[in-house]
Amino acid sequence: MLGTVYIALNDMVVDRHGVVAWDKILDEVKPDSEGVFTSIETYQDTELTQFIAAIAALEGISPTDVEREFGQYLFAVLNRKSPIFTQLAPNLFSYLRSVETVIHPDVKKRFTDSSLPTITCSRGDARELLFEYRSARKLCYLSEGLILAAAQHYGEAVSLEHSSCMHRGADHCSIRVQRHGE
Ligand code: HEM
Repeated sequence: MLGTVYIALNDMVVDRHGVVAWDKILDEVKPDSEGVFTSIETYQDTELTQFIAAIAALEGISPTDVEREFGQYLFAVLNRKSPIFTQLAPNLFSYLRSVETVIHPDVKKRFTDSSLPTITCSRGDARELLFEYRSARKLCYLSEGLILAAAQHYGEAVSLEHSSCMHRGADHCSIRVQRHGE
């Protein structure tokens, strides 16, 4: 995955636990990069999984929770770098639809080596959207975190129901996003 993602993970750990904790994680994971990431270079996906496992052990929570929390952290990083995408979308559902039609195609144009998931959004009604995720990387909990942080950005209260999941043998993940309130 692109260095941007690893740099954000590095920053999240340093923000939460300090630079010594990150150095310890580097000692455990021993990435080929030795922890020097460039935003436009690509690094091994297996190292992301190893980093997440090491952070989970450090925090005493599950790798799933770390991946979701990292999704929330990553949203803030991406939105700070490219605020245009939230500016263009008036609400959460319109933003989520734009990930596949606008945001990721723009990433692909800028970084031809990038490899992006396939996301399909279909709308049940004004309060419900079905977010379907397909990727060999199976980073569906990262998606959950990104969606939750985007909802917070729009001030919309949502709940997520991850009804089918590639980690439970399904061929794709289905995340039902339900809006609450007004
Ligand atoms: C709710 C919003 C978003 C969702 C659900 C989402 C979902 C994802 C997921 C799950 C991945 C991991 C790759 C995979 O699963 O195969 C990914 C990768 C990526 N996304 Fe998004 N994304 C969102 C918003 C954005 C935004 C706003 C940007 C940039 C401005 C962005 C740029 C990227 C980049 C650069 C990668 C890495 C691609 C690579 O390393 O090859 N995403 N996205």
